[in-house]
Amino acid sequence: MKIIGLSGSLRAGSYNTALLYAAKDQMKDQIDMQVFTIHDIPLYDGDKEALEGLPPRVVELKEAIINSDGLFIVTPEYNHSIPGVLKNAIDWLSRPPKDIQRVFGGLPVALMGASPSSFGTVLAQEAWLPVFRTLGTKPWFGKSLHVSNADKVFDATGKLTDPAIALQLRQYMQGFVSFINLQQIEVRVSKKTQGEERRPSVH
Ligand SMILES: Cc1cc2nc3c(=O)[nH]c(=O)nc-3n(C[C@H](O)[C@H](O)[C@H](O)COP(=O)(O)O)c2cc1C
Repeated sequence: MKIIGLSGSLRAGSYNTALLYAAKDQMKDQIDMQVFTIHDIPLYDGDKEALEGLPPRVVELKEAIINSDGLFIVTPEYNHSIPGVLKNAIDWLSRPPKDIQRVFGGLPVALMGASPSSFGTVLAQEAWLPVFRTLGTKPWFGKSLHVSNADKVFDATGKLTDPAIALQLRQYMQGFVSFINLQQIEVRVSKKTQGEERRPSVH
């Protein structure tokens, strides 16, 4: 199973990027996770888009998502909401509108986040929901993971050292994998019975 893992932080010592790598490492026997960050994605500018088209990094990420079975986003929280830099990346990925269905339609999406505060990105995660809805994704709501006190659960190298969070992370990721498997079975059944094509299984 191919999953795109996207971190919403540009920071070298990011807790969210560390969490993404911890998930990749824990699930390496079940998931082929390709990790992306939002470096090299410029601010969205409609004039630039009209003149030059999409930036190469955005094209690359769009293609990777199209060829994946699911998208796993790890989001920081800024001012009780979505970080602008990550929203900017998703906005680019939603261009041009005719591609939205191909990139995001029926796409299984999972979301988690880490913060040094005691709320662990709960408000940022809520704030993402209208975005996922408008893009036509299939968000997974089976479990949630808000990593609070992030400054205490990773060591200086970014390794996850808290066993309770490690267990929750594994359970969360396994739930997401099961959701994708179920989703792909439903698509196959629906194609057989109704001739419908929602999101084709690529693997
Ligand atoms: C502009 C800004 C606003 C922030 N607002 C919040 C907030 O609302 N809630 C919160 O838990 N942390 C907030 N923080 C702290 C971040 O959670 C913290 O910087 C975190 O380390 C960012 O994620 P990263 O480690 O992946 O870069 C804010 C940080 C910045 C820079």
